[in-house]
Amino acid sequence: MLITGASQLLTLRGRVPRRGKFLVDIGIIRDGALLVRDGVIAAVGTRLEVESLPESRSAEKLDLGGRVALPGFVDSHTHLIHAASRAEEYELKIAGASYEEIARKGGGILNSVKKLRAATVENLKKRAHAALREFAAHGTTTLEAKSGYGLDVASELKILRLHKELSAEQPLDIVSTFLGAHVVPAEFRNKPDGSAQYIALLTDKLIPEVAGTELAEFCDVFCDRGAFSVSEAKKVLEAGKQHGLAPRLHAEQLTRSGATQLAVQLGAASCDHLEQVSKADIRALAKSNTVATLLPGCDFHLGLRKYAPARELIEAGAIVALATDYNPGTCPTMSMPMILSLACSQLRMSPAEAIAAATINAAYSLLRDHKIGSLETGKQADIAIFDVDDYREIPYYFGVNKCWMTLKKGQPVFQKAHT
Ligand code: NIG
Ligand code: FE
Repeated sequence: MLITGASQLLTLRGRVPRRGKFLVDIGIIRDGALLVRDGVIAAVGTRLEVESLPESRSAEKLDLGGRVALPGFVDSHTHLIHAASRAEEYELKIAGASYEEIARKGGGILNSVKKLRAATVENLKKRAHAALREFAAHGTTTLEAKSGYGLDVASELKILRLHKELSAEQPLDIVSTFLGAHVVPAEFRNKPDGSAQYIALLTDKLIPEVAGTELAEFCDVFCDRGAFSVSEAKKVLEAGKQHGLAPRLHAEQLTRSGATQLAVQLGAASCDHLEQVSKADIRALAKSNTVATLLPGCDFHLGLRKYAPARELIEAGAIVALATDYNPGTCPTMSMPMILSLACSQLRMSPAEAIAAATINAAYSLLRDHKIGSLETGKQADIAIFDVDDYREIPYYFGVNKCWMTLKKGQPVFQKAHT
């Protein structure tokens, strides 16, 4: 297929990962074109360059009519599988209850656990399929998905198996993460040694089983007040590592726990949230290859005013990525463009920085930068096309969907209806 007519083709070619002043490099080609063969990019360049290739003559043609094309978004942090929204808690939060107060009263994650355990696989799958269509409709072509609303052996495995089935049944790529250490489940809470027992269940039974059956690539822990401590997180992530699951971490979201230092020590692929990071944490991230994944949608939805210090992280040289954190408690959105809008207006990232953070750096955090995250020869033809003239209009518009078409491995997986 020959794709022409991109007013701006954002290739995102260049060094990986992108740090510091290089984060703005988005590799724009004006009047850009792409040649796609068998779902893979065979050539990238200006219209003149690509059209003059012999293969282009016989190719099927797609004219973008002056729109902007970029790599499909890589959403590197989602809690895809859950049974229902928590709109009832949303109302309580608006009235003044904090996320932690609601959690202490058995709401929050435990509320979603109750709902998930009671849900049938069919219903969970139906909800996830609908969400995946929304992701595709907003330009996302690969997403990470975490378990963590099951918190017992059968329910966690049920979620992880769904990741695999959904990957096979629909076009978007799903990267699976085991988050058994989301919180201590209710049935362990009133036991004297409950958390230790639950952690033993994770390290001695679930992690070996999950790794042995290849149901996940990554292991994650929610390390915060009301969830797991740094030493507990260390136990879980080390067990995961021993079994070949690469670490990721929910760190410094509600309080500063020291989780970032642990993530760096363990060589975690990613350390996510970071609203409460200290200067020393920022320096540690800057010296490491652990990606600082920022999730401004959570702060927006929870009405918190303290966003992660993106500018300091970028200027120190940390690898910054952006993701939705799609989940029913803190960020019910599938829209990466909305996350880009928040990154620009609240985190003061430039539109170019936000786009690089949401594509190539996010791909790096999922250990997939050799395949996705940029439009370069040999990479997957995962492409988002926006109905705008200038890439800066992608974050500039908010609350409206400007995605015009999404291609996964060269095939359209979303196309805007004519209006
Ligand atoms: O990333 N912080 C932990 N996990 C989610 C929230 C999960 C929930 O409230 O259901 C997050 O924000
Ligand atoms: Fe999360």
